Amino acid sequence: MTTAPILALAPAARPRASLLPPPPVLQVRGLSRSFGPGCRRCADLTGHAAGTSACPSCGTVVAVHEVSFEVGAGEVLGVVGESGSGKTTLLRSLHLDETPDRGQVEVLGYGDLLTSRTPRSELRRSAVVMVHQNALAAGLSPALAAESNVAERLLHTGVRDLAQVRERVAALLTALDIPAARHQDALSTFSGGMKQRVQLARALVEPPSVLLLDEPTTGLDPSVQAGLLEAVQDVADRLGAATVVVSHDLGVVEVLADRVVVLHHGRVVEHGLTDQVLEDPQHPYTQLLISSRLA
Ligand SMILES: Nc1ncnc2c1ncn2[C@@H]1O[C@H](COP(=O)(O)OP(=O)(O)OP(=O)(O)O)[C@@H](O)[C@H]1O
Ligand SMILES: [Mg+2]
Ligand SMILES: [Zn+2]
Repeated sequence: MTTAPILALAPAARPRASLLPPPPVLQVRGLSRSFGPGCRRCADLTGHAAGTSACPSCGTVVAVHEVSFEVGAGEVLGVVGESGSGKTTLLRSLHLDETPDRGQVEVLGYGDLLTSRTPRSELRRSAVVMVHQNALAAGLSPALAAESNVAERLLHTGVRDLAQVRERVAALLTALDIPAARHQDALSTFSGGMKQRVQLARALVEPPSVLLLDEPTTGLDPSVQAGLLEAVQDVADRLGAATVVVSHDLGVVEVLADRVVVLHHGRVVEHGLTDQVLEDPQHPYTQLLISSRLA
């Protein structure tokens, strides 16, 4: 894959003035989100030991409970867990599509997004950008050309030099393996994998601090999956964004993530370096997840 144009679009790295490691770009602390009326026993009656995320006393679903983690510049954090474990609710909360009941989502340079006075639409452009499982849910327009879908986001930022916009968009799409001959074709004529790449280009045309990916490869055939993973990895490396990738597929996380968080009934049951967690899982749920993958 041609990767140089992405590098060319990356902001220049700032010289390091400190010997200490840089502060994390994303800090999530005590994030919780429930669906239902809630009662005093919800937290005690749900979770791994209780075997459910639905409170037997009041029926509330404790989708995400007291989740905390940090992600540094250029780092990729994987979030794995079975269906219903709270992965999408967590990501939607980070993207401000969901209002958490408690917790903080600190992004370097922006403070806590949940209490920020900056309009959410602006935070969603520069602080956190999400690549959705379904390209159309991400606000892409099927009738518009691929390049227009990407350029649209840049035009919102106030860039007015259209020649510059066109050049930048073309470089990004080409870097993500969309041939120049297709840039002006309507998105509706693109395959699933190509639509995901256009979505990725749109997410990156104005490099965000935090990149969120929800099941980026679901529904794509294996060869397309591999190419997309390579593109995501390249982008994470070069742009220095803090990336959070959610997947029920351990293979995706194994390829992409430096560290992994295992979610079960809305709780983090295990957190560590991806290789260590996959090779030597400590929590019984992670052990089950890994053994069922090998079965
Ligand atoms: N808006 C909502 N109203 C009520 N319950 C919800 C809502 N959104 C999510 N839930 C519940 O919260 C729990 C977590 O759902 P979530 O979509 O976050 O799981 P997930 O890990 O992304 O699952 P999947 O792998 O199937 O995508 C589920 O029990 C779900 O039914
Ligand atoms: Mg989901
Ligand atoms: Zn309850």
